[in-house]
Amino acid sequence: MSVWAVLAAAGSGERLGADRPKAFVRLGEQPLLAESLARLDESNWIDAIVVAAPPGWEEPAILLAEELGCGKVSACVTGGATRADSVRLGVAEVPSDAAVVVVHDAARPLLDDSVVERVVSALAEGWDGAVPGLPVADTVKRVDGELIVETVPRDALRVVQTPQAFVADVLRSALTGSDWTDCSAAVEAAGGRVRVVDGDPRLLKVTDASDLERVAALL
Ligand code: CTP
Ligand code: MG
Repeated sequence: MSVWAVLAAAGSGERLGADRPKAFVRLGEQPLLAESLARLDESNWIDAIVVAAPPGWEEPAILLAEELGCGKVSACVTGGATRADSVRLGVAEVPSDAAVVVVHDAARPLLDDSVVERVVSALAEGWDGAVPGLPVADTVKRVDGELIVETVPRDALRVVQTPQAFVADVLRSALTGSDWTDCSAAVEAAGGRVRVVDGDPRLLKVTDASDLERVAALL
């Protein structure tokens, strides 16, 4: 059974507002991308990796993979205009005999192998996909403009993260649909059964400069 990772790193990082795409902003001694790339490469659960790089940054991405000795990197593709496009372009490089695809965002650098284990091993139990999720700590309200319409019971809510693992064929056919925010939503919409497994609070997503500081402190 071969497990391929698609690392979505092609975003521009507008909200971070740096002079370069988010994946190449410095985190510790390395570009942000290095952390998730090295961790995926070291994972015993991952056989091969496809990186989706920002337009014009394919070469630096390949050089970084070489510098880090990431021998599992099989391809580096130019990402698309949206995350969905970048994931589609990355998945297109995954060979048809791959059993599982794990999609991860480079914006979540602190990837622990136990999360990869949880999402990949859930597929052996017959699920079409598995995603890490965390309980919602705050009270959640549904609003209509400024008016609170409802207090939403939060025990049935989860905030989901990446890495997200899918049966390769299921993901491939689901990605043809449009209008999804994460791969799981595409698979859910196509009728797939996706399991939520325990997420990891350290899998913070770097969106703005304060997130970058928080992640750097956890390195
Ligand atoms: N991503 C991608 N291709 C895009 C847009 C996003 O591969 N066209 C990736 C990002 O590189 C990131 C992940 O999807 O790893 C989550 O996206 P987000 O955090 O929104 O990153 P950016 O789109 O780069 O940031 P912003 O929305 O602030 O521009
Ligand atoms: Mg974005």
